[in-house]
Amino acid sequence: MNKVAVVTGAARGIGLATANLFSERGYLTVALDIAESELDKSKIDFLKCDVSMENEVKEAIDFTVKKYGRIDVLVNNAGIVLVKPIEEISWQEFLRVVSVNLGGTFLMIKHVVPVMKKSNGGAIVNVASISGHVGQVRHSIYGATKGAIIALTKSLAWELAPYNIRINSVSPGSVDTEMLRSDVAVEAKRLGLSFEEVKKMREEEQAFHRWADPKEIAEVIYFLASDNASFITGADLLVDAGWAAK
Ligand SMILES: NC(=O)c1ccc[n+]([C@@H]2O[C@H](COP(=O)([O-])OP(=O)(O)OC[C@H]3O[C@@H](n4cnc5c(N)ncnc54)[C@H](O)[C@@H]3O)[C@@H](O)[C@H]2O)c1
Repeated sequence: MNKVAVVTGAARGIGLATANLFSERGYLTVALDIAESELDKSKIDFLKCDVSMENEVKEAIDFTVKKYGRIDVLVNNAGIVLVKPIEEISWQEFLRVVSVNLGGTFLMIKHVVPVMKKSNGGAIVNVASISGHVGQVRHSIYGATKGAIIALTKSLAWELAPYNIRINSVSPGSVDTEMLRSDVAVEAKRLGLSFEEVKKMREEEQAFHRWADPKEIAEVIYFLASDNASFITGADLLVDAGWAAK
């Protein structure tokens, strides 16, 4: 029997690479996003869903259960970044970042856990960030949501273990996606530098002096969701080429 995976924020970037990997390896894959996607809809179910809207989350989970009867894996990848000095962040911007990054992760877990309990288990992988581990200048609220996701993961590991549900997070360093490129463009403008200059600075934060390919993160997400990680719960796996180790 094929396992079923739900991946949020799967229209592009890390989420797209993750949805494609699960699908290639035999999972029935349901991809959720607010944006249109390049993914192959003949192989992967794609649904419009804003993870910060509880009714949309519920509809997406109901669709998946109706079509496939179970959910074995949930990947909470949807997220937005905010690159600003603290005094320039509006209350509305604060609420949006918290609602999508932390709120979306909460809502997806809240509605998927009852489904996993019914089928006696599952695996959840949350996408946190290096920003939840190290102080990244002008990423304060974004980093705070990622630190919160790591804390949420630890607490739920104990809460969900009796139901055979494992939950872990990954913390990527810099990954070559539209999110990072827009982040670098904003910083370049603020600092009066070129995009390439800021890109180089960001590459140097990692011991391999390059950004990750989204597929390198997808592989780690896949591992944590797989039975090969059967004794891992409540963990955060840094995929940062040594950034936090410095
Ligand atoms: N790129 C990096 O360097 C990096 C580093 C660490 C962590 N991350 C995290 O990885 C995850 C994926 O990031 P990415 O770099 O692929 O970004 P991205 O911007 O390329 O992709 C994010 C996707 O999430 C979707 N999304 C945004 N808000 C949503 C919402 N409310 N509901 C549903 N979907 C929504 C977007 O439409 C987009 O398709 C994010 O959680 C991000 O914080 C990224």
